[in-house]
Amino acid sequence: MGICFLLLIVGVCWAQYDPNTEAGRTSIVHLFEWRWVDIALECERYLAPNGFGGVQISPPNENVIVTDPWQPWWERYQPISYKLCSRSGNETEFRDMVTRCNNVGVHIYVDAVINHMCGTNAGAGDHATCGSYFNAKTEDFPAVPYSGWDFNDGKCKSRSGDIENYHDISQVRDCRLVSLLDLALEKDYVRSKVAEYMNYLIDIGVAGFRIDAAKHMWPGDVKAILDKLKDLNTKWFSAGAKPFIYQEVIDLGGEPIKGSDYFGNGRVTEFKYGAKLGTVIRKWNGEKMAYLKNWGEGWGFVPSDRALVFVDNHDNQRGHGAGGASILTFWDSRLYKMAVGFMLAHPYGFTRVMSSFRWPRSFVNGRDVNDWVGPPSNSDGSTKPVAINADTTCGNDWVCEHRWRQIKNMVIFRNVVDGQPFSNWWDNGSNQVAFGRGSKGFIVFNNDDWNMNVNVQTGLPAGTYCDVISGQKEDDRCTGKEVHVSGDGMANFQISNNAEDPFVAIHVNAKL
Ligand SMILES: *[C@@H]1O[C@H](CO)[C@@H](O)[C@H](O)[C@H]1NC(C)=O
Ligand SMILES: *[C@@H]1O[C@H](CO)[C@@H](O)[C@H](O)[C@H]1NC(C)=O
Repeated sequence: MGICFLLLIVGVCWAQYDPNTEAGRTSIVHLFEWRWVDIALECERYLAPNGFGGVQISPPNENVIVTDPWQPWWERYQPISYKLCSRSGNETEFRDMVTRCNNVGVHIYVDAVINHMCGTNAGAGDHATCGSYFNAKTEDFPAVPYSGWDFNDGKCKSRSGDIENYHDISQVRDCRLVSLLDLALEKDYVRSKVAEYMNYLIDIGVAGFRIDAAKHMWPGDVKAILDKLKDLNTKWFSAGAKPFIYQEVIDLGGEPIKGSDYFGNGRVTEFKYGAKLGTVIRKWNGEKMAYLKNWGEGWGFVPSDRALVFVDNHDNQRGHGAGGASILTFWDSRLYKMAVGFMLAHPYGFTRVMSSFRWPRSFVNGRDVNDWVGPPSNSDGSTKPVAINADTTCGNDWVCEHRWRQIKNMVIFRNVVDGQPFSNWWDNGSNQVAFGRGSKGFIVFNNDDWNMNVNVQTGLPAGTYCDVISGQKEDDRCTGKEVHVSGDGMANFQISNNAEDPFVAIHVNAKL
């Protein structure tokens, strides 16, 4: 801290690892493919009152419109320019969202697609979300502008021009990722154009960036761009605050590129987290929850203060990217709630909750042939609004996992126990485990195939607590189970292995 303070004075220590969430807000939610008008409303009506720190949004810049298949979600990962219009909304709507979310203390994190432009087969014309002309074949993007000189063709040494071998670091970073035109980020001109885009967003008031496909860029090139970024807008952030940076580096081990190569720039997405947690909760490969006692660095993950963690993301929930079959999603809701509950209770990493749309999943030979399907949309291709039902769930095929009581209440749990140590671990050597967070919260899981009835030390003050999984505290009563903690901190927990949610969580803000 002292060294950082001294370096701060000379301006070289920047807090790119700090999520820039407001004090007491410890998680963000990815509102995948949501429209800006819906996010603005969600910040005001739901995220702020329930303690969410921020929203990761889908890429806001102009992208190619793909018609075969019909407007897939992945078209947004094919930039045409850095103009702010997409199917989530135009620049006016974007600015309104950032302002309204910031005004209620919920910050916006932009998914920045800066490694590449559209795919080689995107054609030519003005079929882009702002109507800008482009020509993928001649690598002409006049709305930026980029031309053929601004791409890595000469540098790539693979036969096809695409990445063919993930064990060849130069190929991974200099060749085309699935045919996407690879920007020459060693050029100061290209770096400046990217930084200009990011600075434009910083001026509007965003708090940070997910750096898409960071693994496919040289860490030094990413750093050169980040070094050109401004401090955050002082209308909402303290003077000298730097954008939060988390880089998408898929490192499941076994490849030469490591997440740690990128620590100099910011945090990295820890993909081992969801892959391993899914394996444990599914009880695959002989894994047990008892083995989670040393969860975190003990499992070979990056250091906690360099990690951005999640149970699933928009790629691996549909079999893209990394993690494989073990990844838990809303489709496996019972196990998914346990995994998200564990993540939010455990102190490791900075946590991101996923919020998805439902798609017509259809497996042919083990592969989902509809893994490309875009967000719920009207016949003219426009994205459907997020409808809110009377029971607070969402309609129009928006899943809204972040509104599930168990997940929303665990986001609050994490805020309540923030800064408290991992404590009072208990397990039965199998899949019944419990742990606390100092004197503020306690959680118990029964993922065994038999009932659980145990007395354990919670570390909490005596009293009657509301379980925030089966219900919550409302007025002066619990809508779900009650847990009685005695004067010595002990409490009895009984959890049926057939319970819809076989876990219980209590914290000091839900005490009668
Ligand atoms: C943005 O979209 C809204 C809603 O469709 C529209 O009223 C507004 O004029 C648009 N603004 C710009 C600058 O295109
Ligand atoms: C796990 O818990 C159950 C009940 O709490 C107990 O009967 C069992 O022996 C424990 N240990 C193992 C290894 O199953």
